[in-house]
Amino acid sequence: MAKIFITRKIPDAGLELLKNKHKIEVFSDEVNPSKNELIKKAKDADAIISLLSDTIDREVIESCKKLKIIANYAVGYDNIDLDAARENNIYVTNTPDVLTQATADLTWTLLLSAARRIIESDKFVRDLKYKGWGPELLLGQRTFGKTIGIIGFGRIGKAVAQRANGFNMKVLYNKRTPLKKAEERKLNATYADLDKLIERSDFITINASLNDSTYHLIDKAKLEKMKENAIIVNTGRGPIINEKELAFALEKKEIFAAGLDVYENEPEVFNKLLELDNVVLTPHTGSATTYARYKMSEMVAEDVIAVLKGKEPKNKVV
Ligand code: GLV
Ligand code: GLV
Repeated sequence: MAKIFITRKIPDAGLELLKNKHKIEVFSDEVNPSKNELIKKAKDADAIISLLSDTIDREVIESCKKLKIIANYAVGYDNIDLDAARENNIYVTNTPDVLTQATADLTWTLLLSAARRIIESDKFVRDLKYKGWGPELLLGQRTFGKTIGIIGFGRIGKAVAQRANGFNMKVLYNKRTPLKKAEERKLNATYADLDKLIERSDFITINASLNDSTYHLIDKAKLEKMKENAIIVNTGRGPIINEKELAFALEKKEIFAAGLDVYENEPEVFNKLLELDNVVLTPHTGSATTYARYKMSEMVAEDVIAVLKGKEPKNKVV
């Protein structure tokens, strides 16, 4: 029986598919393995099901002599050394599509929460400060008809744009290769270079993946170009924004607010952000709907089963 090492308990759907066919070992319900633990447990495994918080580098990959597939329980795969996988003939798979709507919803949840100061408002009521209706109490930003700039325009970015159309927003987007005109028309979206997008947008969302070209894409210089009431939301990857420089811009109120689901050094969050009222923080829960997480579980299981049968996986990255 082939051995499948799973770095942390995932929803049952996928485990059920794997159970009777293969030997499965789940590291734990609560934490992922350290690198040493990972190597120790996976060195005789045929398959690894990993989380985005597991670093699967060359050393790990080359220590696992029987490994045929790394099925990453995430759409992003910046945690895996793809070159090392390729060189060692190991498949890498991910879980696209099923989490697109969940992540677009969370992007909008953060956008609206930041615009309407929902966390401050909730705290205000709980602190028993609500003494009567106030004409100037907790004023936020209008969204209807404003401009949104979407950085990274894959499936998730496009799903964010569809929602923006419902708010009658002007949609700008930036990605490496612009879309065909027909698709732009369908989404009511206009390509803009990064500086233009940043200068013109009232709302900026990061829906890109992390790679050399997106690392610290948003830094002090970019923050200074934003409108003074701009709101920035990141549900992509933390290191796309220089978190320290964002915190200082928020503290000095150079922009209105931010909504963050991802951080530069997860699970750490830069201390200053924790003290600010004008940022809404969630713990990397973009895909955290029951639907998405169950589907993701089935997808990693199906791809592992396919590869162990000698077939191509459906969601092949490498
Ligand atoms: C979440 O961040 C994912 O990549 O699935
Ligand atoms: C978005 O960029 C996605 O890959 O779903």
